[in-house]
Amino acid sequence: MADIDIQVDAQSLAEAVAHKSVAIMQAAIEETGSCRWVLAGGSTPVLAYQYIADNLLSEVDWSKVTILIGDERIAPLDSDQSNWHQADQALLKQIPQAKQMRPRSNLELADAVDDYHLALEKLPADLSGYPIFDLVWLGIGEDGHTLSLFPGSPNLDNNSSLILPVEDSPKPPSERLTFGLSALRATQHLLVIAAGSSKAEVVASAQSSDELPIAKAASTVEQAGGQVDWLIDEAAGQRL
Ligand code: 6PG
Repeated sequence: MADIDIQVDAQSLAEAVAHKSVAIMQAAIEETGSCRWVLAGGSTPVLAYQYIADNLLSEVDWSKVTILIGDERIAPLDSDQSNWHQADQALLKQIPQAKQMRPRSNLELADAVDDYHLALEKLPADLSGYPIFDLVWLGIGEDGHTLSLFPGSPNLDNNSSLILPVEDSPKPPSERLTFGLSALRATQHLLVIAAGSSKAEVVASAQSSDELPIAKAASTVEQAGGQVDWLIDEAAGQRL
């Protein structure tokens, strides 16, 4: 069963996400000598990226960390629409020691998907061949989407591809690449992060649904033996 940590506001949430993430990364490095961290897109994670950059940079041996992202929009690399560019501005440019596995989202969609898929296949994997991620951050859309997996998408039924193309995202821009659910099959620790009253309905629904993409992602990790923690602020938790 997932744990739900409710923080008073978005800044306290960012600090809780940052401290928990650093502890998970430290433990992974201590235990295995490395850590693979999958970032989340959207705006919610930015405060947590910034808090790590401002307060916790010295707490992690970033040379032992490989950084990826769970989904990316097809856009120029320096575009404000780029999830990676957003994380780079907030944190990544301050940790050049980390191995940064950025999707080549400036390519044509099919090429970007193939390229990122090949990169994931080279990562350390479990006995079933799924890439092992020590820490994954996921955001939630108001419709319950996560990554770029949207309600009703046939991508939700794809149980084999690690990386999938999206050509018709209801959340602009329309072209994206995304982790498929199978990419989460060897996730050790998932943090689901949500802030604001606009997420209250979907956060509450996701606790009892197995249909919403975010619920499918969380159950994929739990069924594989991973730990799932929901970190939300009071506004996002007001319907619980
Ligand atoms: C994206 C994200 C998406 C995001 C949610 C929440 O590329 O848009 O990956 O899944 O996490 O839509 O977005 P906000 O944090 O901005 O509400």
